[in-house]
Amino acid sequence: MEPRELVALARNAQQMAYAPYSKYRVGAALLAAGGQIYIGANVENASLGLTVCAERIAVFKAITAGERQFQSIAIAGSGLGYLYPCGACLQVLAEFSTTIKIFAANEKDEIREYYLREMLPQVFSLDK
Ligand code: THU
Repeated sequence: MEPRELVALARNAQQMAYAPYSKYRVGAALLAAGGQIYIGANVENASLGLTVCAERIAVFKAITAGERQFQSIAIAGSGLGYLYPCGACLQVLAEFSTTIKIFAANEKDEIREYYLREMLPQVFSLDK
């Protein structure tokens, strides 16, 4: 799958955001190793700190569908500039695939591509 196709799915997933507080809508599209795609959108809460990012929604949907390995994730947001995943979402992604590719889109759907390990070189791990 082409990065622009995955970005288009992330862009579409923005419509599912529940973001009445920030009005900042984020969509994510996660491509699993076998080709299945899981979308996510941010879900906010009146208790603001309970908000969950689009990326983690996509990961948790995929994990609870039985997936464990991923090829790539695309993210699109309603702001200007490239939307990079927050540190918490990078850590959650790193639990499963450190080689996953991240496609960050800007408002024109131009894409910047990174490996997860470039964005989060040191991952928290319980291993010694
Ligand atoms: N948000 C995401 O969904 N993903 C990110 O990587 C960063 C931020 C959401 C959380 C909140 O609902 C809104 O964007 C503004 O912070």
